[in-house]
Amino acid sequence: MKTFYVTTPIYYANDLPHLGSLYPTIVADCLRRYKRQRGYETYFLTGTDEHGINIQRMAERKEVTPRQYTDNIVAEFKKLFSLFSLDTEHGGYDIFMRTTEPFHYQGVAELWRRVAASKTPKGNDAIYKSHYEGWFCPSCAEYKTEDEYQKPEQPGEAPSCLVHLKPLDRVSEESYFFRLSDYDEALLKLYEDPEFVQPEGRRNEVISFVRTGLQDLSISREKRSVSWAIPVPGDPGHSIYVWFDALINYITAIGFGNEERERVVGFEKFWPAVHLVGKDILRQHAIYWPAFLLAAGIDPPRKVFAHGMWLDPNGRKMSKTLGNTIDLDILHRYFATDAVRYFCLREMVFGQDGRFGYETLIDRTNSDLASGLGNLSSRTLTMIARYCDGRVPSGKISEDKLLFAKRVGVDTDETTIAGFAEHARDQFLHDFDNFAFSRALEVVWSIIARVDKIISDAKPWDLAKDENQRQTLNAVLYRAAETLRWLCILLNSVMPEATQGIYTQLGLVDSLAHLNPADLKWGGLAEGTQIGEVKPLFPRLDRAKTMAEIRNGSDVSAARPSESDAVTSAASEARTKPLPPVRRATTEAVSGSEGVTSFIEIGDFAKVDLRVGQVLTAERIPKADKLLLLSIDIGEEKPRQILAGIAEYYEPEKLVGRKIVVVANLKPRKLRGYESQGMLLAASVGEEGKPVIATFTEDVPNGARLK
Ligand code: MSP
Repeated sequence: MKTFYVTTPIYYANDLPHLGSLYPTIVADCLRRYKRQRGYETYFLTGTDEHGINIQRMAERKEVTPRQYTDNIVAEFKKLFSLFSLDTEHGGYDIFMRTTEPFHYQGVAELWRRVAASKTPKGNDAIYKSHYEGWFCPSCAEYKTEDEYQKPEQPGEAPSCLVHLKPLDRVSEESYFFRLSDYDEALLKLYEDPEFVQPEGRRNEVISFVRTGLQDLSISREKRSVSWAIPVPGDPGHSIYVWFDALINYITAIGFGNEERERVVGFEKFWPAVHLVGKDILRQHAIYWPAFLLAAGIDPPRKVFAHGMWLDPNGRKMSKTLGNTIDLDILHRYFATDAVRYFCLREMVFGQDGRFGYETLIDRTNSDLASGLGNLSSRTLTMIARYCDGRVPSGKISEDKLLFAKRVGVDTDETTIAGFAEHARDQFLHDFDNFAFSRALEVVWSIIARVDKIISDAKPWDLAKDENQRQTLNAVLYRAAETLRWLCILLNSVMPEATQGIYTQLGLVDSLAHLNPADLKWGGLAEGTQIGEVKPLFPRLDRAKTMAEIRNGSDVSAARPSESDAVTSAASEARTKPLPPVRRATTEAVSGSEGVTSFIEIGDFAKVDLRVGQVLTAERIPKADKLLLLSIDIGEEKPRQILAGIAEYYEPEKLVGRKIVVVANLKPRKLRGYESQGMLLAASVGEEGKPVIATFTEDVPNGARLK
């Protein structure tokens, strides 16, 4: 079986997880799920980088051991990754790698010994001992050359790191060096393969950096300056440089240097890996790492792909000082996990910088998910329930009915939509294989747009009134349902939960995780399949209301603990969190009366909680001719379920998306076995009391109160 091994960088365990740690993990997770669907045996690594002077100092300040310090940070990382379905339990990473694992120590020592025993391509010792004199940034864990630091204002002061703006450490001590300067030609040979470092622009940067001449690299510190590190084999007075240690995690995790892990995972089986890294750590991955591996006689990685940075909506770098970071608590509280995953892949062109703002996330959720995928799914399934007794109809139109279909503009040739879907699928596979995730998703949304148009043009609700158009109606609904099946398989890697949800609603039972999009054939959805219960998947978010809540929430969560609080407080659970949106209690409503016969006080009116709601789904109820079962977003955490006696006058699917008025504090009651959690307002017209639903002619946010 073909194998695929993908890694994220291992994150410094000196700080709580942030968007910079969430993002690459989401991308790697999607990629691995995609490859698994494509039939690969996969392995996905993420984890933490736990050694070095920075963590040593943080722990000293907190009066805990470095290990206690990183244990607490790791617990926070694992908690976060689980919230976003990225952990093993949710089908995510195979290993949360920690550089403090004993097997890692073993593997690092083994690699060091191999490199130390090797000669460079130019015939010199790959590692030699000498003296290092220079400036070091503990936060970057990097030595800085003159053009990489800011000179001090006063003579005698330390220069500052250009990234962290903090003073650098002066290092003047004995050190082991890796003879990187001898590997330039060997590295340039590797870069001849255009697939090795990507995207192209980054590859060119790496090539020109190597061409300008490489400096040898200090790969150890004296133990008396850095003690929280892996010792140099055979020379315990020296500690291995944190980057040398960290990069090796990619191979120790799968069994290099440890027979037990080799047996359980398989270095031989999975190496080489695809490394996803931020552009800020490309040099370490595309230059140092392959050079270490060349020296040790190990194959270089399969690929190093450098992605861009998330900036704030104004294009500024995110930083705690500017207060423009993304709060992961908020992200989790207000947005569906799959919406965040989708946004990460769709909004940023992988390889370029992108802008991350809550507003853009709300807009994308509403346009692409609530109105796009979610709406296509709910309207298709609701119509199958309504017009076809809940069974997937046939997509075929017999000869004698072709003319009817043509008359209403329905393309009778099913191969047209099949061909369109196949072409889009091939484009999707090509883009995903090339890490062009955003484009791949754009292509999938072109299928959604196409089918939306087929439905709007054909107007199934009109076709349903004409017996001659039964086959046309069936064909339109089959096309929509079969497209939904395709969408589930195509999008499963990006939105595992939502797609599995739609798939179940389609009445299908397999696990999507192993269904290969390349094997999709039009017509796979069997006629007669009994669809499942129709449920809304992506409720629309009320932009103004959600933003107001996020703003209030951020004030509170500004009190979010720093990394040090997470470490010193055993009760890191006690994070200050804004309260989740509260579901308003339903109380007894004022009793209504037929016709206005007497005046009420304003206070009486105020007892009625009238809210703007938006219909998310609408369906008929078996054996209840008059009732529709609606789910309505009134700006609460969960949509309300409301039964309304309007089935004789309203086609359910036409109600989806409509803004209406809801009595929100009516005592819930049961009708036909369903709880109705409110009431919608409608005028009662004519003798028969035809209901005409109250609505708005201007855009109003869901949940807005009527006064
Ligand atoms: N520990 C090293 C990696 C060692 S890998 C052998 C490290 N850790 S880090 O925690 O500082 O950064 C991890 C990753 O987060 C980097 O790839 C970095 O690019 C990424 N990000 C940090 N901030 C980011 C954004 N604002 N946007 C996207 N990714 C960013 O470096």
